[in-house]
Amino acid sequence: MSGSKLNWVEKYRPKTLDEIVGNDAAKKDFLDWLQKWDERGKAALLHGPSGVGKTVLVEVAASTLGYRLIETNASDTRKEDYLENVIKPAAFNRSLFSSRLMIFFDEVDGISREDSGALNFILELIESSRVPIVMAANDPWSPNLFRIRDKVYMIPMHRIRAPSIVKRLRDICRNEGVKCRQEVLMLIAERSEGDMRAAIEDLELLYSSHEDVDLEEAEKILSYRNVERNVFETLRMAVFASTLENASTSLSSSEEKPEDMLEWVFENIPHVSPRQSLYSALRYVAEADVILKQISKNSLWRILPCFYHKLASAFLIIPQKGKASFSFPNRIRERFKRFQHEKNLRDLESFFMKELHTGRSAFRRDFIPLFRVLSKSDDFRRSLLNRLIDQHLKELYGSVILGEARKRFS
Ligand SMILES: Nc1ncnc2c1ncn2[C@@H]1O[C@H](COP(=O)(O)OP(=O)(O)OP(=O)(O)O)[C@@H](O)[C@H]1O
Ligand SMILES: [Mg+2]
Repeated sequence: MSGSKLNWVEKYRPKTLDEIVGNDAAKKDFLDWLQKWDERGKAALLHGPSGVGKTVLVEVAASTLGYRLIETNASDTRKEDYLENVIKPAAFNRSLFSSRLMIFFDEVDGISREDSGALNFILELIESSRVPIVMAANDPWSPNLFRIRDKVYMIPMHRIRAPSIVKRLRDICRNEGVKCRQEVLMLIAERSEGDMRAAIEDLELLYSSHEDVDLEEAEKILSYRNVERNVFETLRMAVFASTLENASTSLSSSEEKPEDMLEWVFENIPHVSPRQSLYSALRYVAEADVILKQISKNSLWRILPCFYHKLASAFLIIPQKGKASFSFPNRIRERFKRFQHEKNLRDLESFFMKELHTGRSAFRRDFIPLFRVLSKSDDFRRSLLNRLIDQHLKELYGSVILGEARKRFS
């Protein structure tokens, strides 16, 4: 299961202020605010687009200045006893902790307006807390935050500029020992629209197998990424939905096929579930799997909602959801790679079928093994590559037929 290995977004989560790229003004502003904070001080709200380092900045600033961070997200704030028994004592520092505390409400725009209890709680806390209160949100103008907005010090954070993203990506490549092409890094940075998390996720998708990837291939793979982005959004909504109905609707309205959605949920449950609820959550996924098999075997499509209910239940029973950082399911990645491989093979076949006057299956059965053996001779290899005029075909010959890492043939 992929949960055991750190994905690159987590592995390269900044640990020091210097590692947080861009947003220098916000960094300075926030640190100044914290250093000058006194009990009459307001709370602070960091706001800006996704993946620019809001959460990370709060975490790193806290550890740099020696604060212990009490971190909550929108789903924790729905739990009244959590607010009363964990947050409130922390705000008045009547806790067992001797260190300085800071309370962090992350993703506050995710608190629904109906949840006026949580919003009132935060408002009261801002007035009376004896420790700094920090919040983060994507959309500070969200109507549910209007009462909070007046009472906080607003710190805007912005999209990260493409050259800064490229630089960070290059550092990651160097550390991972992978050879990344500048033009591919630029493509990733431009597509990310200033979202560093998205850029690192794309980098991992392209390079985690440590093979060279050229621009054309990167473009193909990343266009599939758009689908994935939508799935991340779907999962995030399902994980933090307040009711089973909402979670289930969010999963079922995705464009992803049910069997793929199952993979997404299965592979990502370990990222959001603590160990103690993992077994129960995965049991729901297993039940969903059984239902889906029955549905497709007997064409029982009318009971598809039951399938989504089971899948959604897997998220709903998780008591304290971790910060949701999702990853691409390995099985879908493998399928995608096979699809790519098959397509590449077909491109080559189309060329050789004409050259050699042979059929597809004969080419696969007879010629490919022969080429593999003969290519051990440099002369043969050179003369064959000369016949493959197209650069694309030359590269495919190396990677598909000879099974080598992609490289340019001159
Ligand atoms: N400015 C940055 N410098 C370096 N890495 C970054 C930066 N911003 C984001 N990242 C990377 O993206 C990941 C997510 O960052 P973070 O959680 O702070 O984003 P965010 O702004 O809080 O996004 P969201 O609005 O989705 O919560 C980090 O673990 C890190 O790998
Ligand atoms: Mg965040």
